[in-house]
Amino acid sequence: MDAKEQIREKIDVADLVGEYLQCKPAGQGAFKALCPFHSEKTPSLYISRPKQIWHCFGCDKGGDIFSFVMEMEGMDFPEALKVLADKAGVELPKYTKGNDDAKGRLKDINKFAEEVYKKFLNTAGGKGARDYITSRGFTGEIVAKFGFGYSPNGWTALVDVTKQKKIGSKELMDAGLASQGKMGVIDKFRNRLMIPLRDHHGNTVGFTARVLDPNDKPKYMNSPQTPIYDKGALLYGLDLAKTAIKKQNEVVIVEGNLDVVASHMAEVENVVASSGTALTDRQINLLKRYTNTLVFSFDTDTAGFEAARRGMRLASSMGCNVRVAVIPPELGKDPDDLVQKDPKLWQGVATKHIDKMQFLFDRIVGSIDPREVSEKMKAGSEFLPEVASLADTIEREHWLKRFSDHVDISVDVLRKELDGHARDLGDAGSARNAGAGGKNPSPTARKQEDAGNAGTDRSRPVPTAQELPDKLLDVLYSVAFSSKDAAKTFIDHLPEAELPEGWYKMLYIEMTDVYNAVHTQTPEKSFFEALRSHLLNKEIDVSRVDRLALLAERQGDSTDMLPNRDATTELTNIIDQFKERSKKGKRRAILAELRRAEQMQDTKLVADLTRQYQTLL
Ligand code: UTP
Ligand code: MN
Repeated sequence: MDAKEQIREKIDVADLVGEYLQCKPAGQGAFKALCPFHSEKTPSLYISRPKQIWHCFGCDKGGDIFSFVMEMEGMDFPEALKVLADKAGVELPKYTKGNDDAKGRLKDINKFAEEVYKKFLNTAGGKGARDYITSRGFTGEIVAKFGFGYSPNGWTALVDVTKQKKIGSKELMDAGLASQGKMGVIDKFRNRLMIPLRDHHGNTVGFTARVLDPNDKPKYMNSPQTPIYDKGALLYGLDLAKTAIKKQNEVVIVEGNLDVVASHMAEVENVVASSGTALTDRQINLLKRYTNTLVFSFDTDTAGFEAARRGMRLASSMGCNVRVAVIPPELGKDPDDLVQKDPKLWQGVATKHIDKMQFLFDRIVGSIDPREVSEKMKAGSEFLPEVASLADTIEREHWLKRFSDHVDISVDVLRKELDGHARDLGDAGSARNAGAGGKNPSPTARKQEDAGNAGTDRSRPVPTAQELPDKLLDVLYSVAFSSKDAAKTFIDHLPEAELPEGWYKMLYIEMTDVYNAVHTQTPEKSFFEALRSHLLNKEIDVSRVDRLALLAERQGDSTDMLPNRDATTELTNIIDQFKERSKKGKRRAILAELRRAEQMQDTKLVADLTRQYQTLL
């Protein structure tokens, strides 16, 4: 048994969550609590002791003990593992230790440098930096919160102090704070305002240093990449923004580090900076721990827009809800300008954001002269790829139509163009559009496409048999997860063939495997626990399974939808309902196909579909 399993055995999820949150009983080893990851007034976070999972039906976060600590403490997995291992008294394999020590040392040195720079800020030599801070309106409180300091104009101010502390010049260079000069090791940062760069735990991992003399170049000088500072992984201000991001369930992304600082002056605290470059996938993944809504606010110049647009596309493709907070050019160019004028201006802009597509439409399409063909072409080449990247059919159609109306080109023509872009997007895009060409697909071909999409594409125009009974299927699985006996009833009464192709069927097959493996043993784990640890090694979205698993708890708790009849009766009832509805759904889908086949006067297909229809009566 690996360390993870040992820890799982020693720490109960309900006890763990109970240490952080006020939990109320919700029947059968279940509890509920107000979710700390989004704001709410009635509890929608459910925890199950027998299943050893938690899930919030409000914000869709959930998982096991490890993911709870990760979410709650903003940790990555190795960190959460360590915390829980200590708690459980389980010893972890030590193979990473040497590396950790080296990193720890680099963090200590950067932290020490931060303290030194802070002291220099308050010496006579720091007057220029203090004046600069005042000129930008930063208060003492803000200076302390962000840890501003000053690097003196000499050559070895930091080198000298660190020597006394037994920090070697080699170490100082490794930490990115000094470099080798002709006469010896010298400070890297000189006569600059020192702004600590902190990771999301608040460890100082480097610095960004602003000139005080506007004639000096470059405006900002940054720490080099080191084992603890990775530019593409850090988001400035995240350590101070985490709580606010969770509470508001959105994060505002600005360009400049000092825009973050200014934003805190205006009491807008759910803000991070990408530090002047396009967001990376690592940064987006980091943000996704706290929220799925990313609000981009960028400088009004073109460079700002281009960097932001790349970041926005990446975020959309990673499933984020992407919005834009537009700074009206007449008010200023960046958040700092607005706060200087009036904090309320930035408060307004940061909270009144618009959908990304609306923003792009206004910016790219709204401004063109529709009589100019070259402008139409340019707008098309910029806007259509954005439309093609949308995951939702209805949303895609909506923007296609808006574009079509504006440039007065028929939707059908544009759609061909769009299919080309979608193919460029790779697998997801082309699979999605494979059926849209209208090339008279055979019923079996169509069926396979639907199977591939089941459960992911919510908005195909013709509802298929697969989609209709999803809600019922959810309830069905939820009850089936409740015990080994329930699982048996489920498997016995619902033949695999009755299930739609795709996710639910995959899950069914895994359930059958687990049932067959465990049904003879006296359980140490609940059926669900066994199933879950089995699924962790499969290509199955476990968080979706968790959500289903706690549905029964939630419904049993809030309504009488699942009364205390025994699970077997309950299940067979639902299975009957499911079979009936599934038939109805299939009939409806075939009718829709039939209508189309008739329009196309495809007599063979009509006959085929009619036969299929009759078998379902
Ligand atoms: P900006 O020049 O927009 O920053 O660059 P800013 O915050 O408005 O600067 P102030 O208000 O004049 O002090 C945005 C970001 O790009 C990076 C920095 O991270 C900065 O916050 N940058 C900019 C550099 O790394 N080096 C530079 O020389 C300039
Ligand atoms: Mn600025």
